[in-house]
Amino acid sequence: MAIRQIREMGDDILEKQCKAVPKMTLRTKILIGDMLETMYEYHGVGLAAPQVGVLKQIVVIDVGEGPIVLINPEIIEASGEQTGEEGCLSVPGKWGIVTRPEHVKVRALDQEMNQVELEGEGLLARAFCHEIDHLFGELYVDKTEDGLHDVAYEDGDAEETEE
Ligand code: NI
Repeated sequence: MAIRQIREMGDDILEKQCKAVPKMTLRTKILIGDMLETMYEYHGVGLAAPQVGVLKQIVVIDVGEGPIVLINPEIIEASGEQTGEEGCLSVPGKWGIVTRPEHVKVRALDQEMNQVELEGEGLLARAFCHEIDHLFGELYVDKTEDGLHDVAYEDGDAEETEE
């Protein structure tokens, strides 16, 4: 596995639609392994393929409960509402307030290309929404309530959840 370079806001690739993955290949397996390694290296809770320059519908997430890999994911149910801080590895040093559903159900394929349905609430629901948005070329920065804020690194207590 290898750490991949993370594309940052301003890079056109982050605004493009991703293509569905028709079948699992060695190349895609390597990509998924690299995405997980890259997410952990940069202490993110999620990463989408376009963030490493690949326009495929693949996201990886770990909100502290172990790695989740979603291929061709779609949100099939969403309910409730949560408003809170959000960040993104493609927008380093920033955060913003975004309202998302509190509960989300996702249908996707796993790494063996079997269909799975996963439910998330709280941070996991937020991560599902944020990462799936990436696959449609959408960044959280366009959904913030009052724009972007600088992360106060010297603060020590700033909890970062970059996705
Ligand atoms: Ni992100």
